[in-house]
Amino acid sequence: MISAWGGIDKLTDLVKEAGVTRPVAVMDAFFKDSELAARILEMLHGATGARPSFHFVPAHEPDTDTVEACAAMLAGANPDLIVAIGGGSAMDTAKIARLLLSNPGSAEAISGFGKTFKPHASLLIAVPTTAGTGSEVSESAIAGKANSDIKLIFRSPEMTPQIALLDGSLSVSAPAMVTAASGYDAVTHSVEAYVSRASSVMSDPFAESAMRLLGRWLPIAYREPTHQAARTWCLIASCQAAIAFNSANLGLAHAIAAPLGAMHHVPHGLANALALPAIAAYNEASMGPKAAVVASAFGTPSAALGLSRLRLSLDLDLSLDGFVATDEAREKVAQAAMKSGQVRMNPRQATIEDMRAILESMRVPTGGAVPGLAI
Ligand SMILES: [Fe+2]
Repeated sequence: MISAWGGIDKLTDLVKEAGVTRPVAVMDAFFKDSELAARILEMLHGATGARPSFHFVPAHEPDTDTVEACAAMLAGANPDLIVAIGGGSAMDTAKIARLLLSNPGSAEAISGFGKTFKPHASLLIAVPTTAGTGSEVSESAIAGKANSDIKLIFRSPEMTPQIALLDGSLSVSAPAMVTAASGYDAVTHSVEAYVSRASSVMSDPFAESAMRLLGRWLPIAYREPTHQAARTWCLIASCQAAIAFNSANLGLAHAIAAPLGAMHHVPHGLANALALPAIAAYNEASMGPKAAVVASAFGTPSAALGLSRLRLSLDLDLSLDGFVATDEAREKVAQAAMKSGQVRMNPRQATIEDMRAILESMRVPTGGAVPGLAI
């Protein structure tokens, strides 16, 4: 792990040390024709003597077609170094595509949990340009099944990047709404990992630190995009949150965010923002002494209040009805969410009636207040 403002300049030395000769950059299409892409090309060329191949990942959340197109490009380049630069979409695409190189077949065939894979010998360096998914240190990735409303989860230690290069200066160009939504995703990772039934003495310090850092710095990063300390600490916090959820897993917000993304194309971080305050209210009495820790991390007397105020400060206090318009569609989301493995990680065991009540409460923006729950 390398964390430094302007740390992208260390890429040349890192690559030289690795002694690689066949570099590929997998980059968010947002950066196509950018100064950053030109600098990456120059550094990889300077360090290896070879002209790197570039693959640009479309801006939308990846699906199996996106991943397989990237894998085909990688297979042609036969890389011994892959540098993944961008938000969660670019890093997840690179991680899954790289795994396909040593485990050929369809992307769908390598989705799921508990499978054993052949590692790929290439060095994978991940460079996040948003503070959010923590994909640069996580062993998981998400991609939709093409032409369907199904989200596939990919999970293997073989997908974890060997090097995460955190450079806050790369996140200053992110649109404000991306900073807000991806940041709230990191908030959700930290809170859900902290109160998860699978949390432990190993994951708790990372999760708690991430909550406190995001509670302090995320609103500043949103309001002042060039704030060096805010950008730097948010990136570090999103990494810490991912280290926590690698072992602690997540909870009901992510169970709901998956079908909201797959069926209704709600951006992942926004889906978490719609859900988390209501879920914190639902969980509060089941969190034990951790409830007070979460509340203090967000500077309020209750976890739900702090998370609701944070959501409002990021302009993410929206109504679910803007995305899921009918009772029937909401019921389908409830049914799909109940099938998620994250439901049993939640500190309070939800029934389908509970899930319906949570989704009902998400229809009403709270203006920074604790969401009302009819349970
Ligand atoms: Fe997430």
